[in-house]
Amino acid sequence: MTEQARDRLTSGNGVDHFITGENVETLRYAQGVLSEARYEVEFLADRFDEVLLDSVLSRAREIGSSCFLWIHGVTEGGDALDLASRGGQLERTILRMSRALPLPSVEQSFDQSVMREFNQNTDRHAWLALNREAFAEHPEQGHLGDADLRVRLAQPWFDPAGFLVSENQGVINGFSWSKVHDDPWGRIGEIYVIAVSPHNAPKGLGRALLSASLNWMSTIGLDHVMLYVDESNVRARHLYDSTGFTIQWQDQLWRLAT
Ligand SMILES: CC(C)(COP(=O)(O)OP(=O)(O)OC[C@H]1O[C@@H](n2cnc3c(N)ncnc32)[C@H](O)[C@@H]1OP(=O)(O)O)[C@@H](O)C(=O)NCCC(=O)NCCS
Repeated sequence: MTEQARDRLTSGNGVDHFITGENVETLRYAQGVLSEARYEVEFLADRFDEVLLDSVLSRAREIGSSCFLWIHGVTEGGDALDLASRGGQLERTILRMSRALPLPSVEQSFDQSVMREFNQNTDRHAWLALNREAFAEHPEQGHLGDADLRVRLAQPWFDPAGFLVSENQGVINGFSWSKVHDDPWGRIGEIYVIAVSPHNAPKGLGRALLSASLNWMSTIGLDHVMLYVDESNVRARHLYDSTGFTIQWQDQLWRLAT
């Protein structure tokens, strides 16, 4: 489930919890939130069934909204619900990819670009502008504002050493922001967000930033890295595929008429 959904387990107001099952093995759970006239429901692929789906749809009908279902953790050959046969439309697929570390480092030169740590005091506005530009087509990331950025910079996981920016003659032209998850099942690195300027980045800068982040993760002792990418993001997919990332599972967004 997403970080936000996990937070809402303990602190969410206006959140619907759908639960069936008698014990941990048979427990089924989904979480619904009405946001900007969309009823969005999140659940894990292996923690959902037809009974829960009927409850979710009847709640969406009550609210008078279409239902958007995020299914997390869909694996190939997994026991997925047949939402297409219920008139569902697959709207978006996000791939979770991963690879083992270390990665052999690549030595390259990029015009005058240099890499350094992000500076919270002086780089925020330039970074936000580049982020907006690079993610103009992205439904969430491109709309990040200064308040959202400050919230992220204040998180316990934030480490400036994992937030690299590249600079050409004083202008930030790319970045790679990594995150370390101290999950109960182990420490793992994440390429949290990576982008280069659509106008001012030499070819190969994306690959160099990715490689620098992966090297940093290896130096702090991580042996695995993961990331999320839209299936339709051809450029990023090419970069990750050719860097040895493979798909672990998919998160799918379905729209269901009520
Ligand atoms: C993802 C991103 C950082 C990659 O950077 P980039 O500039 O494409 O990276 P590089 O120049 O190092 O190119 C990486 C590879 O992709 C290839 N590539 C570039 N555009 C491509 C395209 N449209 N289709 C397929 N491959 C493409 C390059 O040829 C290169 O391959 P090669 O090294 O085998 O020649 C960049 O595309 C970007 O900022 N995208 C917008 C933000 C984004 O989507 N971030 C990722 C979120 S998960």
